[in-house]
Amino acid sequence: MGYKIRFLVSALSASALLWCVTVSAETSTNAMQNAIKNGATLFASTSLGSRGNSCMTCHRGGGRSKGMLPNGKSIPSLIGAAATFPHYNKRAGHVITLDMQVDSCIKNALMGKQLPYNSTKMVALVSYLTSLSQGSKINIIK
Ligand code: HEC
Repeated sequence: MGYKIRFLVSALSASALLWCVTVSAETSTNAMQNAIKNGATLFASTSLGSRGNSCMTCHRGGGRSKGMLPNGKSIPSLIGAAATFPHYNKRAGHVITLDMQVDSCIKNALMGKQLPYNSTKMVALVSYLTSLSQGSKINIIK
């Protein structure tokens, strides 16, 4: 009897452990996918700025196509861009991270309100932008 109960308990805890491992693996994948998806939505949303513009106003096709500034000047796509951060920014005069670049585009290009670096929105934007560099080789030293 005691043996049977012990067997049952260990079988149950083994399956509970397996369940935990499976669920947490699934949850971390979902969390990443959600962050990327939310970032893509924010990228196209005018909510980050104050002038009715979104990131997509300049960075076309979700950042996957060649971009265009309101004055017609073309800018490169954002494919692979995240893999070049951190890097020296001439205008800033110092090394900037991807988050700082996003911050600068929100402030200067969208005339928007600064997002805290640890906010869900900043994390989502950075996740989305970095997903556009999936597989790209890190290239920060030129
Ligand atoms: C008014 C046009 C405009 C808008 C809107 C805009 N950007 Fe930019 N973005 C630029 C320009 C111009 C550059 C390149 C020069 C610079 O500012 O350093 C740039 C650069 C970038 C880069 C770096 C690209 C590289 O290859 O180094 C990222 C990442 C980026 N923007 C993200 C965003 C995000 C995210 C948003 C929305 C929150 C946004 N941008 C909105 C004009 C814009």
